[in-house]
Amino acid sequence: MFKSEKSTVAWWDTAVIYQVYPRSFKDSNGDGEGDLRGVINEIPYLQSLGIDAIWLSPFFKSPNKDGGYDVSDPRDVDPRFGKISDAEDLIEEAHSAGIKVIFDIVPNHFSSEHLWFKAALASKPGSPERDRFHFADGQGEGGNTPPNNWNSIFNGPAWTRVIETDGKPGQWYLHLFDSSQPDLNWENKDVSDDFEKTIRFWLDRGLDGFRIDVAHGLYKSDIHTNHRDPEGLTHALRLDLGGMDHDVRTALLSDIPFFGQTKTHEIYRKWRTILDSYPDKRMAVAEAFLYPTSRLADYVRPDELHQVFNFDYMAVEWSAEKIRDSVNRSIQELAGVGAIPSWVMDNHDSPRVVSRLKSEDKARAFALLTHALPGAVYVYQGEELGLADGIIPDEARQDPSYIRSGGKDKGRDGARVPLPWNSKESNFGFSTGTPWLPMHSSMKAHSADLQEGDSGSFLNLYRTSFALRKRLATQGVSKELVWREGPEGIVYFTRGSGFSVLANTTDAPIDVNVHTAVMVILESKGGASVDGTIVTVPAHTTLWLQS
Ligand code: NOJ
Repeated sequence: MFKSEKSTVAWWDTAVIYQVYPRSFKDSNGDGEGDLRGVINEIPYLQSLGIDAIWLSPFFKSPNKDGGYDVSDPRDVDPRFGKISDAEDLIEEAHSAGIKVIFDIVPNHFSSEHLWFKAALASKPGSPERDRFHFADGQGEGGNTPPNNWNSIFNGPAWTRVIETDGKPGQWYLHLFDSSQPDLNWENKDVSDDFEKTIRFWLDRGLDGFRIDVAHGLYKSDIHTNHRDPEGLTHALRLDLGGMDHDVRTALLSDIPFFGQTKTHEIYRKWRTILDSYPDKRMAVAEAFLYPTSRLADYVRPDELHQVFNFDYMAVEWSAEKIRDSVNRSIQELAGVGAIPSWVMDNHDSPRVVSRLKSEDKARAFALLTHALPGAVYVYQGEELGLADGIIPDEARQDPSYIRSGGKDKGRDGARVPLPWNSKESNFGFSTGTPWLPMHSSMKAHSADLQEGDSGSFLNLYRTSFALRKRLATQGVSKELVWREGPEGIVYFTRGSGFSVLANTTDAPIDVNVHTAVMVILESKGGASVDGTIVTVPAHTTLWLQS
């Protein structure tokens, strides 16, 4: 049994938060890319899902080399997405519909098109302009070798050499991601001041919170420290490796000189005071990828951030034992600091859950299991339509990780294909122009319009489970999750005496004695039956039971 230390529940603790990837959500102007007006126009759809908040991936000024995570002005909107007034309207209209709004903030790096980086390139080694980034001399003869052996998370070296103003090759700069994303130097006060300005800029416009990109990476240890296993590290950071155990990742991911440095927490303590200085409960969620996962608790201590994504759960195998382990770990580790977990099945960086589990049935069952857990649930756009990864010819791929790996790593474009809204319209209603990634004909069957009227559709399963989740919360379902004994392959837990969940992770139906009279209130797939206290759970199915 687990006890949460918290007595009061904040809105984000139990929220369903829907991730909008704006470029692929809905195009309102026919240029083939989604935009903020497209999101505003679909607020009724978002409202119909029964979600509590939306988180938008970046739409700020950007040359878009990494899907907008290469920001050249964090306090302006990129013209491809609209104008600042559209962002303001979006916040206002979402609020009128009862939906909170979270934006992304990207503090680890700027775009190489940011004015600061241009100024750094035009300045001398050792200048204040260069000090806002990580510039260093190379090693060896002529400084021809990078300052250390760190690899980019997108493959290849994490250093690129610049041509100095005299036309000769000179210093190197650090980029943990693409060479168009120079890492910022958080020891430099200009950097911290500028981010505080950005935070206030958006909070002043009524924003409810931030998702902090690479929250664990902002401080680097001495750049003269080599990493002991750069290849192993790049491998372990991939999110498409379902089944990579916690312990295996821990072995590959401990002692990284550019992740999880203690000083990072000073930044979040400061940001927390800014968030708390605004009325109406503003929040921040960390995108932190650290192993062992117990280290994540540091990010959600009472004076730091409010939430941290649960990537360990996102990569968990469809196995009762592995799921129980991951859920236990998440709850226990965070309970130590009085925080509540979030549950993530999918995002724009990972394969879509239907593709990862290679089965719609398993994805439906996993969803109902996830939605029944205590804590916040993150949903990635299209997850509610049961979309699989898009089928993309290699020549259409755009992800820098595909390009930098020379095609070895297929990259994340598959999860970023635009949404199919309407089976009868061109590009399935996403855009009247040419979509920025091809939309394969197989997507048609998943279009939102076809799922609307079908009570057995993915879309309606999500709607029903979110509505029921809310109802159960008002009926006082317990915050505590208690595991029950069940046959092998079954995940079985209760939350208070009235609500229990059974998930069958195997290929065959399983009978479970629940020792009390129950009623099935929701099932991920038909075919369950109850006989006395015996519940028959079909293969790869989750049931919600009420007694
Ligand atoms: C994590 C983001 O989710 C991902 O899309 C991006 O490429 C990296 N951070 C770098 O900003």
